[in-house]
Amino acid sequence: MLSKTTAASSEEARPAIEILPGQVEGPLSFPLLFGNARPVELEIGCGKGRFLLDQAAGRADANFLGLEWSLKYLRIARERAERRGLTNVRLLRADARHVIADLIPDASIARVHVYCPDPWPKKRHHKRRFFGPATARHLERVLAPGGYLHVSTDVRDYFEEIRRLLAEHSGLFEAGDPLFPIERMEGKTSYEVKYLQAGRTIDRASYARGGASGPLSRSPG
Ligand SMILES: C[S@@+](CC[C@H](N)C(=O)[O-])C[C@H]1O[C@@H](n2cnc3c(N)ncnc32)[C@H](O)[C@@H]1O
Repeated sequence: MLSKTTAASSEEARPAIEILPGQVEGPLSFPLLFGNARPVELEIGCGKGRFLLDQAAGRADANFLGLEWSLKYLRIARERAERRGLTNVRLLRADARHVIADLIPDASIARVHVYCPDPWPKKRHHKRRFFGPATARHLERVLAPGGYLHVSTDVRDYFEEIRRLLAEHSGLFEAGDPLFPIERMEGKTSYEVKYLQAGRTIDRASYARGGASGPLSRSPG
């Protein structure tokens, strides 16, 4: 768990955006990490932060955690977040598969965003992909009832594999999210912009976890 000395509440003037190695010892406490109990959205492989930071800037009623393996990209995202004065963003340099399996508490996430995950095209590298049977199970576990998962990829066979994995290994079901209608999602991340400019087609899907009341209806803390 994130210790009190590193939590946002102890640095209210300027909370640390980057979660440093050693600060996370077990399951994350989002109220400690963000200093409030607002809904949390997670982006897997947030890159340099284009989507995550735009969301954080436009939606002060939610908190945003970005997971990124590349320290170079993460530091660029951090500098951009600092320049924009964002206080509702945290960034963790880690393997998102480990984070989702070991550090995210049950039913704690309002939305998971996964845009253009690395496809690892060679068959012998498929085990490095973010989506697998275990990740599918954990995605359902970490989403709050009524929470959403959004996915995009320009690789058709990976898209079909993601859909198969979610159907076979999770109880998530395809559903539209009023805040992120699929038809208005195109080109919100750096890679999507790049791929669209190159004439590639991007497939996308949205899923929900069942349940009548979700984190989205929770009043801000
Ligand atoms: C193709 S890029 C897409 C970046 C961004 N989502 C976008 O659409 O512009 C994939 C990103 O995921 C990151 N990544 C790959 N595997 C990861 C993992 N296991 N955990 C966290 N980040 C990962 C890469 O470093 C890279 O920044």
